[in-house]
Amino acid sequence: MAPKFHELAICKIEALTDDAKTISFQIPKGLKSDYAFTPGQYLTLRADVDGKDVRRSYSISSPLGGRELTVGIRKVDDGVFSSFATNSLQVGQSLQVMTPEGRFTAKVGASKQALLIAAGSGITPMMSIAQSLLEGDDEANVTLVYGNRETKSIMFREQLEFLKDRFMDRFTIIHILSREDQDIPILNGRIDGNKIKALNNASAIDLAAADGIYICGPGEMIEAIRATCEEMGVAKSNVHFELFTPADGQEPRKAPTKEMLEAAEQGVSVEIILDGSRRSFKLTDANETVLEAANRHGLELPFSCKGGMCCTCRCKVANGSAEMAVNYSLEPWEIEAGFTLACQARPTSDNLTLDFDEL
Ligand code: FES
Repeated sequence: MAPKFHELAICKIEALTDDAKTISFQIPKGLKSDYAFTPGQYLTLRADVDGKDVRRSYSISSPLGGRELTVGIRKVDDGVFSSFATNSLQVGQSLQVMTPEGRFTAKVGASKQALLIAAGSGITPMMSIAQSLLEGDDEANVTLVYGNRETKSIMFREQLEFLKDRFMDRFTIIHILSREDQDIPILNGRIDGNKIKALNNASAIDLAAADGIYICGPGEMIEAIRATCEEMGVAKSNVHFELFTPADGQEPRKAPTKEMLEAAEQGVSVEIILDGSRRSFKLTDANETVLEAANRHGLELPFSCKGGMCCTCRCKVANGSAEMAVNYSLEPWEIEAGFTLACQARPTSDNLTLDFDEL
């Protein structure tokens, strides 16, 4: 089924650093199965902020089996939602929360030698992954390489220490700091491809032995580590990453093609299949994506990032054709099978049917 919003009450708010908090939601008994998740997934939160309908996705930090779902939020400069969430939200207040989504997942039992690499707030999904793997599988070993500017900006610092104490033999943390000197030179600087190579050469991590490498942080860091892994012969299938902001220099949004312009000029009949019902509208602007046009016609489709990264708006082209402006999340096989992203799709035919119920 397509992801859905439900109103959930905030049951706990805790400060992590000067600019970051965790927010925990109570899951009502009747919605437990709707909010079942795999470690690594995220929740999309939605609120009216200064009269605007704003939604943002935040990774789940809580492990499997908890009574509540927790996300970590760091306030970002000019971040409308993160400022609202870290300044204004109170325990007892309710928020629209989408059912868990995301493909950056680590199943318990799938990795015996997991290597987690995170920078800044990229630690949030790693908290859930590390704790779930360690608690759920006695044979799982987890190494976390975590980059920050300085000690005081480390999110989940206490929780990480606690986890280290609990799983002394199976959990290793390597802190890399860019603006605070540590005694061991290799632990200073930023996480990039060279740092990962240096840690590997120093036997602090073991890329060859890792059967699951999970990376979360800025796009540039992810790209650099992926390239290093490839260079060092790590199987692509072992490398998983979470991209919320594309790396600089990645392809810009493409201009509409001749087919898009012609189709829009005729007026495209768009049909949406969502939760078993069908709704239709006309699309007449070649610059408009199906998601934008649907929204303008009062039709609520699932979405989160609107940037081709999160996959929340994934659907299948059941009739007609459409092309995406950008795509950072669909796999080649999905495109081959006819899937598209509604936030990026612009019709290239007179009729277009998008099916959100097709998984
Ligand atoms: S809303 Fe995120 S990919 Fe479309």
